[in-house]
Amino acid sequence: RRRPLVVAIDGPAASGKSSTAKWVARELGLRHVDSGSLYRAATAAALRTEPESARWTEASVLAAAAPIHLVPGETTFHPHLGDEDLEFVIRGKDVTSHVSQVAQMPAVRAWVNRQVQATAEGHPIVVDGRDMGTAVFPQARVKVFLIADPWERARRRLVQRLQRAPEEAEIAAEVDALTQRDAKDEAQTQQASDAVLIDTTYLTQEEQVERIVALARAALAGPDRPAA
Ligand code: CDP
Ligand code: CDP
Repeated sequence: RRRPLVVAIDGPAASGKSSTAKWVARELGLRHVDSGSLYRAATAAALRTEPESARWTEASVLAAAAPIHLVPGETTFHPHLGDEDLEFVIRGKDVTSHVSQVAQMPAVRAWVNRQVQATAEGHPIVVDGRDMGTAVFPQARVKVFLIADPWERARRRLVQRLQRAPEEAEIAAEVDALTQRDAKDEAQTQQASDAVLIDTTYLTQEEQVERIVALARAALAGPDRPAA
């Protein structure tokens, strides 16, 4: 079997997956797919159809998500609902607090996985999520698992959201929110046995991008079949 031209980047919330994957994709001239954006888009669609999340069923969420499709942008695919680009609305608080519930649904996972796999057909991609190197692309040419200290992840997420240096109390609250979501996502957040673990706590984003680009250049130039 040929190994697909996929660079898979997994890790917990705010470990730097998406922004790193996007930058790596730009460096390599590949497209970037954020699998979490589909879980978030499904959640946004479900919230619009039924604001009361206790009433959601797997079938109702799947029906709400059915019209969502990925549209290629300059580098990153954006989830669209019909003509509407959902990229902005899916980053909101309401979606973030409900997305792990939707991500537990096996039919939703299968739906996301099919959409993500379709983007890799005929196009090399850099893809990020929780299970890209395990469930979705077990044969990916390059696999990276990003981790960082929870305090540093919370600080970065707040800088990204607030565009200023956060206060200690704000960071502490964000650590709680992140660790709660990590706990809910634990079952699907998996480091593949052949993934390279990168702790980014003391790295700059540029440094982690360089490491992954170097790994990818070596692997993409190498054999497209795993050693027997
Ligand atoms: O950016 P952040 O790490 O906060 O989240 P995300 O990557 O946008 O993912 C949002 C949610 O989608 C996660 O909290 C998981 O519940 C789910 N997800 C998943 O289950 N599997 C993936 N491959 C990607 C995301
Ligand atoms: O996709 P995920 O939730 O894993 O994280 P992200 O949204 O890509 O990254 C969260 C923030 O951390 C972004 O603003 C990055 O620029 C920043 N950051 C990083 O990813 N790595 C560093 N070494 C420093 C900052």
